[in-house]
Amino acid sequence: MIGAAQQGAIGAGASHLVSGHDPEHDSLERALADFTGRERALVFSTGYMANLGVITSLVDRGDLILQDRLNHASLIDAALLARSRDFKRYPHNDVESAAVALKRFRGEHPKAGAVIATDGVFSMDGDIAPVAALAELARAESAWLVVDDAHGLGVVGAEGRGVCEQQQLDQKAVPVLIGTFGKAFGTFGAFVAGESALIDWLIQSARTYIYTTAMPPPIAAATRRALQLVEQERWRREKLHELIRIFREGAERRGIAVMPSVTAIQPILCGSAAMALQASAYLRDHGFHVVAIRPPTVPEGSARLRITLNAHHQVDEIQRLLIALEGALAPMLTTDVST
Ligand SMILES: Cc1ncc(COP(=O)(O)O)c(C=O)c1O
Repeated sequence: MIGAAQQGAIGAGASHLVSGHDPEHDSLERALADFTGRERALVFSTGYMANLGVITSLVDRGDLILQDRLNHASLIDAALLARSRDFKRYPHNDVESAAVALKRFRGEHPKAGAVIATDGVFSMDGDIAPVAALAELARAESAWLVVDDAHGLGVVGAEGRGVCEQQQLDQKAVPVLIGTFGKAFGTFGAFVAGESALIDWLIQSARTYIYTTAMPPPIAAATRRALQLVEQERWRREKLHELIRIFREGAERRGIAVMPSVTAIQPILCGSAAMALQASAYLRDHGFHVVAIRPPTVPEGSARLRITLNAHHQVDEIQRLLIALEGALAPMLTTDVST
């Protein structure tokens, strides 16, 4: 990254299609295509912009957009911005409901386009989408499947290739794969990977790709280095999963109800926003930065502590966190968190 910065200015200087596209972007895109097993990849300046660009490019006026109710705000906003007036949200991870909505739409509009979009790992819940079942539905009903695997890439799957690796889904099954660099990669920006024709179409039509300054080339260089670490330093992932196991087993022993998640995101439901804030403040006073997530980010009545583990954490820190959590959550034991 320092080398890339020394060779030129930090900024790209212009949008990709004007003069901002740099060899560093090309190298990163090639490395990402290899890593994800897709034909090509396209770098976006942020994940928010990747999602806006992809969804608005894939749908037209008469098309259907079908999304998981708990999808990231950027996918939801993308659907609100898209030209389609038919935007439906199905209950969380409920493939049956998605199928009913899509089949009804197909019956009424046999020739119209349809897009199913889901997070791979849900950002506030930490659970994993049933992508294989959604892929089957998309195939049967000739719909696009868009998977935003911001929280899966680098973490899920033995090689860190995310939910597509975990559920053995290739480019045919998941034709539009989105990843972000602000999580496991530790940098900034995002990408979309898929068939060459899809990438060509996005370059021509995704307004959040066309009309914005390209990602700074040194960030692209740093991200390519981060990708090498994801590929080569498997121990980071193994350690993270060991920490997740220790945390969950310790929580269970102490009667701390952690939501079902095998990923780095380990949320604890508190119910009211006041309760979540109180628990977060208690943890801060005991040396732990655990954010209280409140409505409207999560549904009313489901405020939570969002514990996020990473490979730099140590086992003794997890043990101390569990002890602190007992104190933080003690007031809840006398309160019904479902209200
Ligand atoms: C699932 C998901 N998609 C997209 C984004 C947006 O990515 P970015 O921060 O790069 O805009 C985030 C979070 O930031 C996210 O959690």
